[in-house]
Amino acid sequence: MTTATTPTPNSRQAQAWNGSVGTHWATHHDRYDTMLSGVNDALFEAAAIGAGDRVLDIGCGAGITTRIAARRAAHGHAVGVDISAPLLDRARASTASEGITNAAYEQADAQTHAFPTAGYDVAISRGGVMFFADHTAAFTNIARALRPGGRLVFVCPQPVDQDTEESRTLGLFAELLAREDGPEESPGHISPEAAADATAARTAMASFSEPARIHEALTAYEDVTVTPVPVETVWGQTSADAVDFILSRTPGRTVTAATRAALEEAFRPYATEFGIRMRAGVWLVTAVRPA
Ligand SMILES: C[S@@+](CC[C@H](N)C(=O)[O-])C[C@H]1O[C@@H](n2cnc3c(N)ncnc32)[C@H](O)[C@@H]1O
Repeated sequence: MTTATTPTPNSRQAQAWNGSVGTHWATHHDRYDTMLSGVNDALFEAAAIGAGDRVLDIGCGAGITTRIAARRAAHGHAVGVDISAPLLDRARASTASEGITNAAYEQADAQTHAFPTAGYDVAISRGGVMFFADHTAAFTNIARALRPGGRLVFVCPQPVDQDTEESRTLGLFAELLAREDGPEESPGHISPEAAADATAARTAMASFSEPARIHEALTAYEDVTVTPVPVETVWGQTSADAVDFILSRTPGRTVTAATRAALEEAFRPYATEFGIRMRAGVWLVTAVRPA
């Protein structure tokens, strides 16, 4: 088992996901699940989990996809692996309260963890595979965990400069916040650790968004497909709610009333009776471990 203090090639990510970034995801797990729920159909349709399947969920976070997988694999089981203790605490609590008995979790670095060889029929991930220092090593390690002919199915972000409603709005947000900060890179009230954690997670997230890079990392697989999938991401019930959420991602962050009003205005075009919804896109990636 890997813990936050065990050396790992991904120790910077371990720090972020056991620190302020992971704590934020664990505290706001419902909100992140709502935000990302639009990708679930594409992920699970492609994964085609059968009743007897053994499923590995990589970077499972608070475990919603592990629990969905466990329900589909009613006579099999699902194991969620993640580097983050606070997120796994959340995952275990939700699994127990939902009475799911065929899902388990392990705290480990998926790049190096000694998974049982050929122990799984399918490996899935909803955005948990971008954070490896060495993507090829990580996916090769995950291939060893799959039986010959086993499937890998994951979703990951498209490049941040992709022109979508979401990228335009988040870009405007970043501009409005930078304008308020002036020449200071970050205002003094943000702890340097939290700022560094957020930057580390964001940078890693963006490091695995080019199809060529994805193909390169999946050398241990065959039949690799990388398909764009349009999704709607949900950022909150109202503009004010969505702004509160975005600001809460930077601990201690405050803004002037004028900036706050401009931020709320930026979300307004996307207000629907089902919340603030923006069009975006992800990659759906499928691959097979050679038989
Ligand atoms: C963007 S979150 C996605 C969480 C979850 N899959 C979801 O959809 O809510 C990324 C997850 O990857 C995990 N992670 C990052 N690096 C990892 C690694 N090397 N091994 C295992 N998990 C990792 C993080 O702790 C985090 O839970």
